[in-house]
Amino acid sequence: MRFCQHFSICGGCQYQDIPYFEQLKMKESQIKDMIDFFELSVELKPINSYREWFYRNKMEFTFGKEDSNLICGLHRKKEKRELFNLRECLIFSPCAEPILNKVREVLKDRYLPYEKFSHRGFLRHLVIRETKFTDEIMIALVTTTQDKLDQEEFVKELVALKLEKKISSLFWILNDRVSDAVIFEEKRLLWGQPFITEKIANLNFRIFVDSFFQTNSYGITHLYKKIEEYAQLTGEERVLDLYCGVGSIGLFLARRAKFVWGVEIKKEIVENAIVNAQLNGIENISFICSDVKRFLAQKDISNIDIVVINPPRCGLSKKIKKYLLKMPSPRIFYSSCNPYTLFTDLKDFSSLYRIVFIEPFDFFPHTPHLECLAFLERKN
Ligand SMILES: C[S@@+](CC[C@H](N)C(=O)[O-])C[C@H]1O[C@@H](n2cnc3c(N)ncnc32)[C@H](O)[C@@H]1O
Repeated sequence: MRFCQHFSICGGCQYQDIPYFEQLKMKESQIKDMIDFFELSVELKPINSYREWFYRNKMEFTFGKEDSNLICGLHRKKEKRELFNLRECLIFSPCAEPILNKVREVLKDRYLPYEKFSHRGFLRHLVIRETKFTDEIMIALVTTTQDKLDQEEFVKELVALKLEKKISSLFWILNDRVSDAVIFEEKRLLWGQPFITEKIANLNFRIFVDSFFQTNSYGITHLYKKIEEYAQLTGEERVLDLYCGVGSIGLFLARRAKFVWGVEIKKEIVENAIVNAQLNGIENISFICSDVKRFLAQKDISNIDIVVINPPRCGLSKKIKKYLLKMPSPRIFYSSCNPYTLFTDLKDFSSLYRIVFIEPFDFFPHTPHLECLAFLERKN
C-alpha cells in the first residue's frame, strides 16, 4: 500500500490508511446494517471492486496563491477554504502531475488567481478529463474575463508535453459567476476536438467538456454489463431509462431490447446522448428532454417492461414514487451513488415490489462513497 504524499492534508481520500480489503468489508457491512435498519428482506450480493488507484476519469483543480506563488490543487481537509499545491493524485491519473506542473509554469508571474471573496483575479479552475480505454485527455482552463489569455503560448506549451496519453482537446472556459462551482458559461475550443471518446465494452461515448459521465470508467463497464445480464432481454422488451444522462445504460440495453426511451432534463446532455446513439449505429432508442416528474405526470408508462432509474444523490421525490407506483412496471433496476436515499426509496417501493437483491459496486476506493444496484420485481 502506498500513501499519496498529500494524504495528511487533502480533503479527498479519507480511507487511504485503511487496507483496501478492509474498506470493502466496511462498505459491505454498512449496506448490511442499512438492510436491517430499513427492515428489508433482500439478498445482498457480494461487493464488486476494480482498480484501487487511478480510477477517476475527471478532476477539477483550483488556482490560488501560497507565499505569493501560484498554486493549483485541491482543498485542505481541515481548513476547507484553503488550498494546497497538488503534486500527485493517486486516484486520478499519472498525467495529472506533468500537466499541473506545466500549467503552473506557463501561467505563473503572468496571471492572478481568482480570489472568491473580492471576486478579483483571472485563474479559477483547471479541469482534466481522461479516457481509460482509449487514452485521450481533455484539459479545460477556467478563468474570469478580467485578463486575456495568451492562447497561442498556452496551446503550444501544453501540446508539446510528453505524456502517457494523448491530449486531444484543449478548452478555455470563461466564467464570471460568483458561484465557486465550475460553470461552463462560455466555451472556447483552443485546440483539437471538442470531445474525447471513451470505449465502454464495445460502445463508444463522446465526452464533451461539460458532459456528465460516471467517474469510474472501469466500474461502469461492469455495472452496465451486469444490468444487461440481469435484464435477460429477449428483444421484446420496452425499456424506460430515467435520468439517462448521455444514454449509457439505455444504449447498452437497446442492443437486446425492442425499444428504449431515455429521459434527461438537460438539453445539451440529451444532444450528447443522441450523438452517442448515432455513433454506435443504435436506432431503437429515443431521448426525451424533460423533468422526470413532468414526464411521468403526462405519459402513460403501463406498457413498459423494464424501468431503469439512476437519479442524482437526492434520490426520488414522493411525487415521482407515487407516479411510478401508480403505473407499475414488472421490473425495475435502481442504481444510486447514495445508499441512504436508495434505501429510503426502496422502502417506499416495497409495498408493491419485491426487492430481489442489492449489489454494491465500489466505484470510489479510498473514499466513503459507494454505488449500489437494486433489482425490484412487481409483486403479484
Ligand atoms: C446520476 S446521473 C445518471 C446518468 C446516467 N444514467 C449514466 O449512467 O451516465 C443523473 C442524471 O439525471 C439528470 N437529472 C437530474 N435531475 C433530473 C430530473 N429532474 N429529470 C430528468 N433528469 C434529471 C442529470 O442531468 C444527470 O444527467
